Amino acid sequence: MKTSSTTPTRIFSGSRPTGPLHLGNYLGGIKGYLALQEKKEYDCIYAVVDLHGITSPYNPQNYPQQVQELVLEYLACGLDPEKAHLIIQSHIPEHIELAYLFSTIYPVSRLQQLPTYKDKKKNQPHYVNLGLLSYPVLMAADILIYKAQLVPVGKDQLPHLELTREIARKFNRLFGKTFPEPQAYLTPGAYVPSLTGQGKMSKTNPKSYISLIDNLETIKNKLAKVPTDTGKGKKIPSTGGVATLFTLVQLFQGEEKRKEYEKLYLSTGIKYQSLKKELALAIYQALQPIQEKRNYYLRRPKLVRDILTAGEKYARTIARETLNEAKEKMGLL
Ligand code: TYM
Repeated sequence: MKTSSTTPTRIFSGSRPTGPLHLGNYLGGIKGYLALQEKKEYDCIYAVVDLHGITSPYNPQNYPQQVQELVLEYLACGLDPEKAHLIIQSHIPEHIELAYLFSTIYPVSRLQQLPTYKDKKKNQPHYVNLGLLSYPVLMAADILIYKAQLVPVGKDQLPHLELTREIARKFNRLFGKTFPEPQAYLTPGAYVPSLTGQGKMSKTNPKSYISLIDNLETIKNKLAKVPTDTGKGKKIPSTGGVATLFTLVQLFQGEEKRKEYEKLYLSTGIKYQSLKKELALAIYQALQPIQEKRNYYLRRPKLVRDILTAGEKYARTIARETLNEAKEKMGLL
């Protein structure tokens, strides 16, 4: 476990346990978690945000397993309990209490205007609940309960981070300086587009993603369905299936390879079949060690439980302290 004599810069982030992680989660989220845990001056807390996961339709019977799966995938990707603290959000109830306090200073009308809320409302019209509306307020509490200054996330989370800063500012103005204004930490894969060629890779559309536990056959089949064109043109496409392929080439095979393909596209033309075959292999090679490590932890449930117990003990002490400070400043203690 990292220790430091001076106050370390705190890092917080989390992912919802709504199904296996996909390449977007890995490149946009987890890669950032990994990069920051390597810095000695940073104190990282990474969460399975199970309370956010239940704001969309879910199956309570399968949910505990989904939570465990995400813990396994975190560890499999390389989250190192010696360098970062792992927690399950609902095990630290202080997050909810701080979220309630924040909810008394943030206008409902602003939450209703948030594009992420509007999208969810469209996607799940029969599941528009209060938790969904106040989702970003709980997210602000997740971050600010640890006074985190840096938050590794994908680009889709930037509006939520802006709201977090707004809440921090307002709290500080009303009750006295308490919270930092956290910044996002973005990786080169901060926006991974969908395999359909439209929008981002997302768990809500199974056709849009490759998951971290997919095998080579599945990856090949999924890439085969990415829509393409004739392989030749006057301009490199910036949207659609071809743009998605180029982005994935860049992220898994490097910039040089992408440039090679772009040159071909503008001259003699690309054969997508071989591009897709090579890309599938490169993706699988990146995922294989993760899948092996997942199996390692799968066989060691006690080790995984101990990692969470230690992470949660550490996090809870900080969370209690911050909550007490906030309550005192708000005249509640
Ligand atoms: P979630 O579970 O949707 O996603 C987890 C992480 O994956 C990133 N991500 C992507 N990055 C690049 N390209 C994509 N296509 C893509 N899709 C997802 C997300 O940006 C995220 O970093 N609200 C958060 C969870 C949360 C949280 C927090 C995050 C709750 N509290 C506090 C940070 C701090 C979410 O739904 O992530």
